[in-house]
Amino acid sequence: MRTVTLCPDRISAGPLILVNARHPLRDPAQPYLVPPDSRYPQITMERQAARLLSALLQEVDPAGAIVPVSGWRSQDQQQAIWDDTIKTEGESFTRQYVALPGCSEHQTGLAMDLALAAPEIDFIRPHFPEDGVCGRFRRQAARYGFVQRYKRHKEALTGIAEEPWHFRYVGVPHARLMEENDLCLEEYRAFVQRNTPINLEEHGRKVRITYLPCLQEAMDLPLPDGRCQISGDNVGGFILTVWRDTP
Ligand code: DAL
Ligand code: ZN
Repeated sequence: MRTVTLCPDRISAGPLILVNARHPLRDPAQPYLVPPDSRYPQITMERQAARLLSALLQEVDPAGAIVPVSGWRSQDQQQAIWDDTIKTEGESFTRQYVALPGCSEHQTGLAMDLALAAPEIDFIRPHFPEDGVCGRFRRQAARYGFVQRYKRHKEALTGIAEEPWHFRYVGVPHARLMEENDLCLEEYRAFVQRNTPINLEEHGRKVRITYLPCLQEAMDLPLPDGRCQISGDNVGGFILTVWRDTP
């Protein structure tokens, strides 16, 4: 049987990490970055997130009416955005729409701000409407592992105002579970921990999601057969996802 070693420092790596003001990025190492849209080579994301965003855009918007606005940001870039927004818009607006440096999902490479193409695009609050091609994007996003991260009715939990343009890659089947159960990432992480293990079926395959609390020391975890994915949660443990073909 295969095993994987879970080291405490890996808790802040993987597509399910929770990053917010209460859970800063511990190790904002630069991920392997790729542009999801070759028209905008300077706007990048973590490789797997970029591949899936690119596929999603191909499906819903082959004409390219949706444009990427902001993807991966360094600590210095997030700090500069914070400082500039404080200067131009004031502190209250900034706290609503810009994450504290060190606490932004953009620093993980897992988030992308999107806009409907227009001559002028607001960098902090891009226009990404509910209807048309953006609506089609929203309806298909979870199938590719993306969620709208900041919703109006979750503001008290996320600490950020509604952001219809900010999409976060969490992977499948997590995006679908979040959507079906109306859970933001703060809630979903706790939901997995509370309900572990979660069993479901996806495209004829059995999927099991298990929460593993992080121990002080590195631990060896035996992995079952089949496709497995391990992500830290950036709080106190790991989320193991295992896919198995149904007999
Ligand atoms: N606009 C989001 C909250 C960020 O700055 O990461
Ligand atoms: Zn964003």
